[in-house]
Amino acid sequence: MDNIGEIIGVEKTMTTKQAIEESFPIVKINQLAQKEVIPRRPIYKMHRWFARRTSCVFRAILLSAMKPAGADIMQEFYKDHTNDPDTNGKVILDPFMGGGTTVVEALRLGCKVIGIDLNPVAWFIVKTEVEPVDIDKLKQVFKDLENRRTESGKTVKKELLSHYKTECSCCGNKDADIIYTFWVKSAVCTNPLCKKEVPLFSNYVVAQKSPSIRFYKDVKCSLCAKTFDWEIEPASLIAESSLTINNHIDSCGLGRGNKRHNFSAKNDVKCPWCEKTQTPRLSFSKKERKKVVLSVLYCPHCASIFQYRGTVSENVSCPLCKFEFNPQTGNVPDKGKFVCPFCGNKDRIINSIRSLPNNQLLPTAPYAIEGYCPNCSGNIEEEIEEEGLFGETIKKTTIKKDVAHLCQLTKNNGKFFKRLDSADIERYQRAVKRWEKEKDNLPYPKQEIPEGCNTNQMRKHNYLFWHQMFNPRQLLCLSTLLQSIIEETNQMQDFLLLAFGRTLENRNMFTRGRNDTAEGVFGFHVFQPKLTIAEGNIWGADYGKYSFLKWVERVLEGKNTLVQHYEMRIKSGDSQEKISNLDRLLNKKNNFQLKAANSISLNWIPQKTIDFVITDPPYGGNVNYSELSDFFYVWLRLALSKKYVEFSPDSTPKVEEIIENPTRGMTASDFERGLKQVFCECYRLLKDDGLLIFTFHHAEGETWKSLLRAICDAGFELIGVYPIHGEAETSLHLMDKQSISFDLIHVCKKRIENSAEKRSWAGVRQEIRKKAREEVKLVESGRYGNEPLSPPDIQIILTGKCLELYSAHYENIIDHENNPVPLQQALKEIKAMVDQIMSPEEDFPLQMEDIGLESYVWLRYLSWYKTEIKSDDVHKVVKGILDVQDLLDSGLITKGRAKRGRTYEVKQPQQRLPEILEKFQDVPIPQTNLFGEVEAVKTKRKIYFADKIQLLLALIMNKENILPWLERFRGESPQVRIALQFIAKKSKDKELESHTKRIIEIMDVGPLFK
Ligand SMILES: C[S@@+](CC[C@H](N)C(=O)[O-])C[C@H]1O[C@@H](n2cnc3c(N)ncnc32)[C@H](O)[C@@H]1O
Ligand SMILES: [Zn+2]
Ligand SMILES: [Zn+2]
Ligand SMILES: [Zn+2]
Ligand SMILES: [Zn+2]
Ligand SMILES: [Zn+2]
Repeated sequence: MDNIGEIIGVEKTMTTKQAIEESFPIVKINQLAQKEVIPRRPIYKMHRWFARRTSCVFRAILLSAMKPAGADIMQEFYKDHTNDPDTNGKVILDPFMGGGTTVVEALRLGCKVIGIDLNPVAWFIVKTEVEPVDIDKLKQVFKDLENRRTESGKTVKKELLSHYKTECSCCGNKDADIIYTFWVKSAVCTNPLCKKEVPLFSNYVVAQKSPSIRFYKDVKCSLCAKTFDWEIEPASLIAESSLTINNHIDSCGLGRGNKRHNFSAKNDVKCPWCEKTQTPRLSFSKKERKKVVLSVLYCPHCASIFQYRGTVSENVSCPLCKFEFNPQTGNVPDKGKFVCPFCGNKDRIINSIRSLPNNQLLPTAPYAIEGYCPNCSGNIEEEIEEEGLFGETIKKTTIKKDVAHLCQLTKNNGKFFKRLDSADIERYQRAVKRWEKEKDNLPYPKQEIPEGCNTNQMRKHNYLFWHQMFNPRQLLCLSTLLQSIIEETNQMQDFLLLAFGRTLENRNMFTRGRNDTAEGVFGFHVFQPKLTIAEGNIWGADYGKYSFLKWVERVLEGKNTLVQHYEMRIKSGDSQEKISNLDRLLNKKNNFQLKAANSISLNWIPQKTIDFVITDPPYGGNVNYSELSDFFYVWLRLALSKKYVEFSPDSTPKVEEIIENPTRGMTASDFERGLKQVFCECYRLLKDDGLLIFTFHHAEGETWKSLLRAICDAGFELIGVYPIHGEAETSLHLMDKQSISFDLIHVCKKRIENSAEKRSWAGVRQEIRKKAREEVKLVESGRYGNEPLSPPDIQIILTGKCLELYSAHYENIIDHENNPVPLQQALKEIKAMVDQIMSPEEDFPLQMEDIGLESYVWLRYLSWYKTEIKSDDVHKVVKGILDVQDLLDSGLITKGRAKRGRTYEVKQPQQRLPEILEKFQDVPIPQTNLFGEVEAVKTKRKIYFADKIQLLLALIMNKENILPWLERFRGESPQVRIALQFIAKKSKDKELESHTKRIIEIMDVGPLFK
């Protein structure tokens, strides 16, 4: 497997075009991608990688690359390619494999794959994803781990669970499990006279749920004759019924107002009016269901945890201490600020942190527990036998609801919220002491958190070492678990580590708790210190997500070849069908090679041996892969540093990372250079007819230009660009391209130039225009599927196809002054051309394209404007053809005064007259050259075509003679005429219309101007 020669087979040559060179099933794949914003297949859920790509996009790219032009890719998409000669044995390279989407998808198609990533964590993840494993043996290894003895003599499972036990507040069971312990940070008041601790609650709602319960409606009391709802299922998130308050508006349940109610699962019930127990007659009532809104609240005065039934009001009185408060407002009025309830001081939280001595962390205290008591869950376990996938007998325990056992908690499956009692605090303290005593013998990361774009925030909050992200109890449990995994010398240790790695993510003090779920440390690809924290059970009770137990299940699922692969097909409307058991990840030998290495030098791969490079490069400084992955790395290396050299350094490689990162002094041009170096390597490794295909975030402006330059400089020509939208399509139709984020698939082939023959830009432009028109026809005839494409999508596709001609002659294209045409300029002109070809405006003939981009945009979109226009609208019309600054510099528009400068004004002809006249003064009259072309004249200030039109308009408005000027602009008479006709038509202003018509009349009289 380590022999690169075995990966790369005999060279085959392709003669025909590949499907992706001509088209891509954009609409269909976009539909699938939108349903798959987060990759859902089990194999990709085994461990986090940042910004994982949707696998359907890569399956489609791979198939479109390997299938010949004309193939129906969507049909191929749902086929089994295990024995497909078009795909089998093709050699694919991904130099930025990340979480391994390309690698996995290519292996499914029977390709050979080389996957590289600088980051050892990425390498480790992909390795565990694709390495074959005996699933039964793996299950056994997990069982063995569970029963491994720790220092204390207990099994790992028992030991880890023992730190998260609590007393059930319903039945008194001391062996109930803690699902979550909730913590809150406090600021220390910065008022020197106060210095009190201020708990940083932004509100006092611990949890909220709306269970649906069964009940009898309006049951009549046989004694007092009043009516009430008899609830036969309990609605409660806490065990103590005395700690529930009903509000006065809708406590009875949705649609039931504030009627009285009582719960009993027996044959009799207590009337809530007269308090007499009875068996009411039910002849008029039938069983119904209703939703009850329940909130668990924390009392800021006595710290009790109680329940509120109905919509939470602004004024709640604590059932224990009667303190009245608004549960919606805590001590955090705005993000990052706190108000001291003792002295009224308002300050920023960061100021409180800065005032702490010796880089201390803010004090943190537990305030509530969510527990689980099997006794109160109403569950009884029953062992049944089932037939397994291979006909084997599997013993399974299933859970049956025991109706005889019904307490307040049954409906909530035995889960309850409670306040911490002294035993809970003692238990925690014991764990803290144990940790202090044992930490020297247990593995945990001791490295400092390096400075970085993502790490500086937590460093400011005084988190300076990785272990500080965990509390002592978490450290004790995690390192005990890791120690047991390290002792597991079986080669399947890596899979145990994968589950361990994933567990870290939600078992730290950066995990925010909300309604039963815990949002892990990487909610937004940053390390954000949290004010309220959910500390979850590490091994895992029956309930609660993201425990080690749950991740073990995920790993097993990911490795189970029978469940891991499927594709979704969208049926009618929104319904989907799952097509499973397509091509499977084959456990063939020698079909993949993975490396944790820097892709800017791939000299260990022989040249011209790769059929396709398919990748997803980093995007500027969007995600700081190495900074983020250190969180996992520092733990994983405790087990892996001796096993794999990749894990011997203290942290993940930073210097070689291709990224923009100001804290490391890495600029946009460093990023561009790195990308180009990798593309150069790809050029060397690709066979002559191979393709380089990659996705890249879509952005107008510099980033894209530098990417295109990098491709061209590396020797490639761009032959296609296809848009991929992960997000909902609706926003696209608003044409507000500024705010939409999507990816572009770039398809490139090697530029094999046979001569350095110069080409004139005018000539190439002619070809480009022709090509764009042909492409429009192809789009209309359904080349990209039967569903219509949105205009911005067509625009992108056309731009891509136009760039092909430019990039094919890259560096050999010259303008009429023999200067090379830079990509930047070509791109602008191509965009204007595409805009013109695509627009429905019939009266805007093609002769007009030589008038220059500023004049084009002004004439097409702005020339008849008299009022202020919104900044957004200006951005829309320049559409990447120009920068708004270009328009400002041209003097055609100016910043508006309204809306604090977020508007623009189109300057009017008379207003511009002096300025235009001045421009003309120091300019010699242009000469027509031998070919009838008007020579460009170099001036201090550029004269735009738009200036000439505005000059004529201004003069006519002032009733001055325009004939000399018409004479002077004679060479451009046809364009002048069209421009004026266009303005006349567009203008809703009668006056402007008549002025333009007047000029045309004058031109009609003088035969010279026709
Ligand atoms: C956008 S990610 C790839 C994500 C992947 N497509 C997925 O779906 O998970 C880009 C990757 O490039 C890697 N990278 C950055 N610089 C590199 C370099 N010099 N050599 C190799 N890989 C590098 C990063 O570690 C990151 O994993
Ligand atoms: Zn109980
Ligand atoms: Zn009664
Ligand atoms: Zn209270
Ligand atoms: Zn204070
Ligand atoms: Zn109970």
